[in-house]
Amino acid sequence: MTRKNTDDAAGRSAAGTPGSFPAIRMRRNRQADWTRRMVAEHRLSADDLIWPLFVREGRNTREPVPSMPGVDRLSIDLAVEAARHGADLGIPAIALFPNTDPALRSDRAEEAFNKDNLVCRATRAIREAGLNIGIILDVALDPYTSHGHDGLLIAERIDNDATLEALVRQSLNQADAGASVLAPSDMMDGRIGEIRRALESSGHTDTILMSYAAKYASAFYGPFRDAVGSSSTLKGDKRTYQMDPANTDEAIREVALDIAEGADMVMVKPGMPYLDIVRRIASELSVPTFAYQVSGEYAMLMGAANNGWLDKDRVMIESLMAFKRAGAAGVLTYFAPEAATLLSKT
Ligand code: PBG
Repeated sequence: MTRKNTDDAAGRSAAGTPGSFPAIRMRRNRQADWTRRMVAEHRLSADDLIWPLFVREGRNTREPVPSMPGVDRLSIDLAVEAARHGADLGIPAIALFPNTDPALRSDRAEEAFNKDNLVCRATRAIREAGLNIGIILDVALDPYTSHGHDGLLIAERIDNDATLEALVRQSLNQADAGASVLAPSDMMDGRIGEIRRALESSGHTDTILMSYAAKYASAFYGPFRDAVGSSSTLKGDKRTYQMDPANTDEAIREVALDIAEGADMVMVKPGMPYLDIVRRIASELSVPTFAYQVSGEYAMLMGAANNGWLDKDRVMIESLMAFKRAGAAGVLTYFAPEAATLLSKT
């Protein structure tokens, strides 16, 4: 019998002595808290968390989102306080989403270009508070369209190229308001390149583009649509622009294109059901890859926790750690403040 000169997969050493039990006991490294900490391959901290916030009109008003227990739509003054709380916890960035008055939604999404729209006012107010926290704004027309789609419609079809012009106007408006990061979530073709060119030629050379590059047509966005008020308005579905959950190679092409067009960071969405995509992108493309633990994932965990079926704190931390293990640079999560608080105690 020829001996291999390297250890084989079962841990047998070159000399042929069995490198297995009892010489090897995997449990030795797990025996105490201090050894487990010493060999931990991944760590989770507040630095990994991005906090999505829903904003609404009014003063000193918070309005619960029934399908997202623990999440409220906040008036701008309370959003400023939330941002301050996030900054105090060491959370690096918040992502703002407006619940736009239905009367301001239209076919052509004009409210997206209004420099005094809700999300722009919220951004300015948070900016003025001078906090050490980044502000991420979504680029997509769904908070502003009467039909709830991310793009403009001609008859029943999304007009990709007309939408690009609208997304560029929305992007410049939001960059002017003080967004540090623009996160196009619309999945139109060519949008990263168009937005990047417009930012460069208007002096917004430092605006970061975090592209929702691999965004799937998912049923897990339901509670978010309740929160921003587009559930009831959305006609049809988003499958002609968001990706088919059956695909993975396509995600690699989407991300490669967005990087080539000028994205600084990319995102995968939803999160937990798509960890394979996070891993492939992080490994194959070496680009800062974020994951969005979306509203439906949050609702699922909170629903079970509130019924006493799951331990909330533990599933929260375990689910967030899974993103790190998959290679994510960070996670957008509605658990951000709670997770950061818990992590600061351990
Ligand atoms: C809008 C947008 C959506 C989410 C983020 N930006 C919903 C959608 O595409 O329909 C989902 C976030 C979540 O579910 O938490 N383009």
